[in-house]
Formats: sequence, structure tokens, C-alpha cells
Amino acid sequence: MPSELVHDLKIPRKLDEKARQDFVSSLRGFILHDMANDLREVYHRDVLPEATRELGREPATSGEVHKALKSNLSFRLYSAMRVNAQEMTWDSVRPQVERNAAQINEKVRDYARKAKGSLTLDPELEVPRSVSALDVHLMPGNYNQEYTADDATQGAVYDNGSLVFFMGLLGPDQGDIGRSIARFIRSRYPELEPARILDLGCTLGHNTVPWAQTYPEAEIHAVDVSAPVLRYALARSEALGCAIHYHQMNSSALAFEDNSFDIVWSSMFLHEVPLKNIRATLKEAYRVLKPGGLMLHMELPPNKALPAYDGFYLDWDSWYNMEPFYKTFRDQDPAKLVEEAGFSRESFIEHVVPSVNWYGEEVFAKAIGESTAVGKDTGRLAEGVSWYCFGARK
Ligand SMILES: C[S@@+](CC[C@H](N)C(=O)[O-])C[C@H]1O[C@@H](n2cnc3c(N)ncnc32)[C@H](O)[C@@H]1O
Repeated sequence: MPSELVHDLKIPRKLDEKARQDFVSSLRGFILHDMANDLREVYHRDVLPEATRELGREPATSGEVHKALKSNLSFRLYSAMRVNAQEMTWDSVRPQVERNAAQINEKVRDYARKAKGSLTLDPELEVPRSVSALDVHLMPGNYNQEYTADDATQGAVYDNGSLVFFMGLLGPDQGDIGRSIARFIRSRYPELEPARILDLGCTLGHNTVPWAQTYPEAEIHAVDVSAPVLRYALARSEALGCAIHYHQMNSSALAFEDNSFDIVWSSMFLHEVPLKNIRATLKEAYRVLKPGGLMLHMELPPNKALPAYDGFYLDWDSWYNMEPFYKTFRDQDPAKLVEEAGFSRESFIEHVVPSVNWYGEEVFAKAIGESTAVGKDTGRLAEGVSWYCFGARK
């Protein structure tokens, strides 16, 4: 069940809004658990034998599984329900945000005036069409829509909507990905002692804040192309007691000096970027990293690491959730992308990190201390929530 936001940008909600949000979360839980399990069964029982006869072999790729399932009624019901629940997610928080819009923007301005961190906007920046021309995740207005001058309300839609969407999975501050991985990195690479950390495509800074908390001595920077979410991000991280420097900047052309960061990180970002910009972004990450520095990107695992059906299941978002670059990215070999960006092949790393929110502090602490429990074969942690990330040392 979603809890409310835990920071000072929390806005009042009516009882019927709470009921609607709880309902949408439960509906998503039903679709992603019960219906998804049924769909897998239907595929293996009813669809696979026929597809295998037609192809003369089992479907071997995510695309072939999709083709085989496309006209199946269970798949169509599952997809229709999931698309509707996605739209309902944003609909369930929008009235609450609109009613409180003036208060949100006033608070955001207030935090900006007294901020220990900073926000540097670039009114000349051309927002890429991969952001300006799409409603990613079917969120009306995407990350960049502004309804008034200095508007931050799309940030509030995303913050409140994510709570409904993730059903509380990311913890009350929605920082579980950043927190789990930053703590894992601190434990696995104790020699890093980063002085400067950069987050690419940070949105609300919800996965930037945990880096600031894990490395309180470090100077933390974060970039995004979308002004509304950046305004909200500054206020949000100040409210959570972290001084973070936000920049409106395209990750493909970073205005930072060569060799100036110890860690360059992103989460859930690259899959929303067209492949040529992913390549440019990785090159920029290489350029701004200090020698010995670490680049790390949290994403869903690549198709080559998964059975065809599992790849199809993750690629669903590319076909039906307005994430057109997602499948192309997941079809890439991360090691090759990293090498093309300038890193040596030997420096490539991959980790599967357990979720601290899911497993709790005790199991998490034990797991990150055991080299066998965190890796491609996650052993006893294979069931449950864990986060895949890849990258390299410069
Ligand atoms: C899915 S969100 C990232 C979410 C966030 N990092 C997290 O941990 O959940 C993608 C973000 O990337 C931003 N973005 C898209 N293309 C970008 C680019 N080329 N450079 C910088 N930011 C970009 C979008 O504005 C959006 O805020």
C-alpha cells in the first residue's frame, strides 16, 4: 500500500483521493502478480506449442514471444488492464496536485531562496524530442510541461504518482535504488572515497539523495533536461536535509570539466534515451570521470541475460507504455556499449544488488558482505527485489 510522501512537499489529500490511490496500487499489484502469473502459464500451455510448430523451434527472442502472444485474449486483457492502470495512476494524483499547485510552487520557491544546494537552469537548452514529444510512462505532460512561470507541479505529479505506481516498494522516500546501490558500492569499493559524484537524468533527485546520505563528505551534482522536475528536486532534497547541485543539462553534452568526478551514476535513465544519445552519454561519462573513477548505471537486465519470455515481459513497456527506446537499449550488450565509450573491456562490471527496503537492514548488510550473494547468480536472494547495474572503472 502506498504511504504518503515523507518530506515537506507532502500535500493534503482528501479521503476519496486516498481511496482511489490505494485502489490503483492494489489493481496494479493484481495485474503484475496474479494476471502476470496467469499470462506466463497461458503462454507455456497454450501459445508456445503452436508457435514452436510454426517456427520449427521455440521462440528465441522477446520479439518472437510478443508476436506469438499478440492475438491471445489473455495477453490482450492483461495489456489493456495494465495500460488502464497506468493511466489511472496519474489520474489518481492529478486532482490533488492541481488543487495544491500554488502551495507547491510557493514552497519550492521558498526552499530555493534558502537552499544550501543549488539549481542552474539553462533557458537556451533545447529539450530533446525524446522528452518534449512524448508522454513517457503515459504521464500527461511528461517531465517538462510547465503550466505557469517557474512551475514545479510535474515534479509533484511524478513524486505522488510514483508512490502509487511502485506500491511502496521503493520505501517511503522512494530512494531504495540509490540507497541499496550506494551502500553496496561503499562496501564493495572502499578505496573510492569519492569527492564528487554526478547523477544523470535525476528527475526528482530521489535516487541522488541516498548518495549524498551515503557519502556525506562528497559534493553531489545532478543533471536533467526538464526544468519543472529540477525545481521540485532542489526543494525535495533540501527538505530531506541534503545539499545537491542541480543543473539543467543534456547528458550527451555535459558542461563539466574532464576528469572532474569520482562516480558518475544513473538509475532508470538510459532506457529512456535514444541509442545515439546513450552512446554520447557514456562517452561524456568517461570524459568527466577521473582516472580510477566509477561509472554505474542501474537498469533492468539486458535481453541477452534473460530467457526469451522474461525479455518479452520487460519489453512490454517499450510497446505499450510510451517508452520507445527501451527495447533497443535492452537489446544492446552493456559491455560493448561501455567499451565503445572508451573504457577497457576488463574494467566492465555488473552487479545485482539486493533491495534494502525489501530485505531489511540485517539481511541486506549480510548479503553485501558476502561476495557470493551479490553477483549474477544471486543465490538465496534470487527471489524478491534486487537491482541490476553495470558500468566500468576508468
Ligand atoms: C525515468 S526518469 C529517471 C528517473 C530517476 N533517475 C530515477 O532514479 O528514478 C528519466 C529522466 O531523464 C531525463 N532526461 C531524458 N533525456 C535526458 C538527457 N538527454 N539528458 C538529461 N536528462 C534527460 C528526463 O527529463 C527524466 O527526468
